[in-house]
Amino acid sequence: MLRLAYVSQLNPDMTDERIARMIEEAASANASHGVTGIIALEGLRVCQVIEGDSADIDRLFSNIRADMRHAAIIELDRMEVSARRYPDWSMVRLPMVDMVLHAYAVL
Ligand SMILES: Cc1cc2nc3c(=O)[nH]c(=O)nc-3n(C[C@H](O)[C@H](O)[C@H](O)COP(=O)(O)O)c2cc1C
Repeated sequence: MLRLAYVSQLNPDMTDERIARMIEEAASANASHGVTGIIALEGLRVCQVIEGDSADIDRLFSNIRADMRHAAIIELDRMEVSARRYPDWSMVRLPMVDMVLHAYAVL
């Protein structure tokens, strides 16, 4: 199982409504692929952690990298893990500070 974290810069034409729809669609696609994770957006800054089977995460991250809705994608961390950290979240939006606390497993 793989856990991957990255940051990116949202395309300025992304409205709150488009962001909300994108996260809804991500959550539903993730649920059908056994992917879980968390995302935070503040201004144009995006930070996301995704976890799941390695092949699923590799495939998803190459989709995410190619997605024109954001740019300046920087992979922060890629870690083989034995258990999920976010088993109950197919994708949830958190305030940035909560996402940082979750990423460091403080929460
Ligand atoms: C910031 C951001 C986060 C995304 N997170 C996910 C995600 O967690 N799961 C997902 O399936 N798609 C996510 N997407 C959408 C993917 O980039 C892509 O559109 C999606 O995997 C569908 O690809 P397909 O139409 O080629 O199957 C995200 C896109 C962006 C811009």
